Amino acid sequence: MNSESRSSQKIKIVTCQDADEASERVARKVISLIRERNEASRPTVLGLATGSTPILLYKKLIQAHREEGLSFKNVITFNLDEYLGLDKSHPKSYWHFMHSQLFNHIDIDPENIHIPDGNVPEDSVSEYCKDYEACIETAGGLDIQIVGIGRTGHIGFNEPGSTVDSITRMVTLDPLTRKDAAHSFGGEAAVPTHAITMGVSTILKSRSIYLLAWGAAKAEIVAKTLKVDPTDMLPASFLQQHEATTFFVDHAAASALN
Ligand code: GLP
Repeated sequence: MNSESRSSQKIKIVTCQDADEASERVARKVISLIRERNEASRPTVLGLATGSTPILLYKKLIQAHREEGLSFKNVITFNLDEYLGLDKSHPKSYWHFMHSQLFNHIDIDPENIHIPDGNVPEDSVSEYCKDYEACIETAGGLDIQIVGIGRTGHIGFNEPGSTVDSITRMVTLDPLTRKDAAHSFGGEAAVPTHAITMGVSTILKSRSIYLLAWGAAKAEIVAKTLKVDPTDMLPASFLQQHEATTFFVDHAAASALN
């Protein structure tokens, strides 16, 4: 059972029974676009996210590859973000996460995988970020961007203070974000202080955006995101200005919505 509604803004909200049903719905959208593009011998450009939220979605994409013969050979991916100072091989790097949760299990061409490099020297970060933006443009722009949401209202690592016109850049992580990541790093002190993230404007350029949120811990921030006037104090609220954004939420994450 799920229900669909539109908030006072343009965002479509799909409330699902649970994370499994929501992930299945998102997976079907991604799979049908990839199929359509494969048939037309055209690439599909996906913006991908990390965190616990999209894990089920990635499982379902792997399943479609294994059981339905879905090929990712024509898929180009760009990840939202990466911790600065973490090597690819670090077990908590997003590079490692994406490879273990998805890329190692599908037939994607490694050359089509783009994840910000957490090891880029500080004096070349800004040039590196400009190149990342240019690379997305050269690929034809993002068809679908998957995003989760942090309790600060961040998308990617666009923490409060991130403006609507922000592009890929180096950012300082919010204390709440570092606290939320502490359990997986074995303590807050081990959580990196900086990251590279696509900007709000990079995300808003995607043709479709799917925000995924499950569990009661996300209820308050999801409701606020939809309620406030778009503000850089809650960067996810800028999604209200996008023409084709859908929030896929479970009942718990939807529980603070009117
Ligand atoms: C990190 C990531 C975000 C993600 C957020 C939520 O901060 N940079 O992209 O949306 O975590 O994580 P989770 O899905 O585990 O709640």
